[in-house]
Amino acid sequence: MSSPLVVAIDGTSGSGKSSTSRGVADRLGLRYLDTGAMFRAMTWWMLRHGVDVHDPAAVAARCTEPRIVSGTDPLAPTITVDGADVAVAIRQDDVNAAVSPVSTVPEVRARLLELQREVIATDGGIVVEGRDIGSVVVPDAPVKVYLSAEPGARAERRAAEQGAADVAATRESLLARDQIDSGRATAPLVMADGAVQIDTTGHTLDEVIGLVVALVADAEART
Ligand code: DC
Repeated sequence: MSSPLVVAIDGTSGSGKSSTSRGVADRLGLRYLDTGAMFRAMTWWMLRHGVDVHDPAAVAARCTEPRIVSGTDPLAPTITVDGADVAVAIRQDDVNAAVSPVSTVPEVRARLLELQREVIATDGGIVVEGRDIGSVVVPDAPVKVYLSAEPGARAERRAAEQGAADVAATRESLLARDQIDSGRATAPLVMADGAVQIDTTGHTLDEVIGLVVALVADAEART
């Protein structure tokens, strides 16, 4: 392939995006970028600085301040804000509850789009996961995947990842986020043109990784 490979993986929370994306990147020797972690890091910074996350103008006014840096090793991805490691803090309930409203603010999306494109443009191929990767961030990606799964399966996976006992509450929280993510005006969660949908409900992680790796091989054979 002439330009470095970009694999765009979009989908809802708990559809298996992160594990699949990291697995594909590891198997193919590519870098990995978790754009959800960047939105979470921005949200963490807003909460930390007392910004009202339900006031879009207040969020917009400060969104160029945090310095968000993503490490792209699929076996050990990192995320820092102003030099502080926030990998654990960005998965807490306060950030879970605030990340969708922060993500609807167009200035936040524009700022993070700029950072995402900088990371994507450096050093070789990459697997990028998020909600608008195939539709907005890299619309010409040669491989675009849309992962979905039934809500029950998604809630069980998320609760297990987060060590949460209450699967029903996790289900409510992720369905509420889906609704905001799909309904927002700027870059909503949609299946991008040219994306291949994979329902992960009945599949193991290894199977889903294998399906995506096969799509990459197909795309490479066509060029
Ligand atoms: O993938 P995740 O659950 O960590 O993402 C957290 C939130 O970030 C999600 O609810 C919506 C937002 N997000 C987004 O708007 N666009 C992206 N490309 C990635 C995440």
